[in-house]
Amino acid sequence: MNANKNEPTSFHTFREDLENLTPNAGAEMLRYGWRKPDILSLGQGEGCVATPDFISDAAHAAMQKGRTFYAPVLGFPEVRQELSDYYHRIYNIDIPANRLFLTGSGTTAIHLALTSILDVNDEILALTPIWKNLLGAAEVSRAKVNQVSLEMKDNQWHLDLEKLFAAVTPKTKAILIVTPSNPTGWVMSHDEIKAVLEFARQKNIWIIADEVYGRIVYDGAHAPSFLEHALPDDKLYTVNSFSKSYAMTGWRLGWLVGPTYAEDVIRDIALYDNMGPASFIQLAGGAALKDGEHFIQEQLALWAKNRQTLIEFFAKHPQLDCPDISATFYAFFTHKNKPDCMAFCRELIDDVALSLAPGCAFGKSSRSYVRLCFACSEAKLAEALKRLEKVI
Ligand SMILES: Cc1ncc(COP(=O)(O)O)c(C=O)c1O
Repeated sequence: MNANKNEPTSFHTFREDLENLTPNAGAEMLRYGWRKPDILSLGQGEGCVATPDFISDAAHAAMQKGRTFYAPVLGFPEVRQELSDYYHRIYNIDIPANRLFLTGSGTTAIHLALTSILDVNDEILALTPIWKNLLGAAEVSRAKVNQVSLEMKDNQWHLDLEKLFAAVTPKTKAILIVTPSNPTGWVMSHDEIKAVLEFARQKNIWIIADEVYGRIVYDGAHAPSFLEHALPDDKLYTVNSFSKSYAMTGWRLGWLVGPTYAEDVIRDIALYDNMGPASFIQLAGGAALKDGEHFIQEQLALWAKNRQTLIEFFAKHPQLDCPDISATFYAFFTHKNKPDCMAFCRELIDDVALSLAPGCAFGKSSRSYVRLCFACSEAKLAEALKRLEKVI
């Protein structure tokens, strides 16, 4: 039979440019480690404490009350108001509920933000080292991703504002910043935030600030937030999540804060995405915001102990170099004689069954680093360090 002459004779099975997605070295290394039955993994960014009962109970109670139907796409009004109250209580800022959008994770919030602003061939400028999924999300949205790195000086990460601003091109649509940073633990200062906001206003570009680790600080109640300095109509999206602060990584719940004019656009996109997070999970998130402070402090007390253990460990091992960990639960370090992060991570898995994340997963500038997540029990960290010691 003759083929219909209007039918294409050949086409790609999958979207052609997906071939250009950069691989995720972190995910690859995790898979490599999982083959070993005795693997001890500090390669993933989560703790080992299960979600506290008061949050699980809230989800259960909501299910039992029949809160199992579709919810408004951007979240139940009462939970959006809970978020607004949270910003007032913790940050002393007033953000109305119509700028707060509940999402099916912090990752989803990143996708919604990027989808709402990116046209084909736009460029994104990412401040690296950075959590790889932000770069991957921009690539999936067909943006070209440029990277500019933090500087390492006197054992601390620094932002060179001139270098960041010089890397912006006429095609740059947005700057991606994670503060506090996964993986470095670097925290952007109030002055730097103000300078970047002012620059973005002048250039008419967006800022996407990922503040998922905003509460995981060892000094004060929270890290400086872009929301403390932005005007309500600044082109700013702030990404956040329940995953880390409330031990809810598996629940998939996050939020996005947008400018005054973003609600309709984000609603339209979310409607064609998965129509918002599950009803009872949103309500559990509301309970976390309302009653979660005690839990956050408990977690921070454990992580502060682990951080101190690591500071002492690195001081004893001059072949390892770990810049100051100002925030988050990550140690991002180098080994003087093992500059290839993939080889070092494989060696750790092969020889002592310890899985860490390779630095190249976080951008071009951190190929000699590895990341260790210390949001674990003291015993697990002690065992991990024993294993690490055998290899170094
Ligand atoms: C900087 C950053 N943003 C977002 C996320 C993802 O959050 P969620 O679990 O809500 O998707 C992570 C997880 O590691 C992260 O490190």
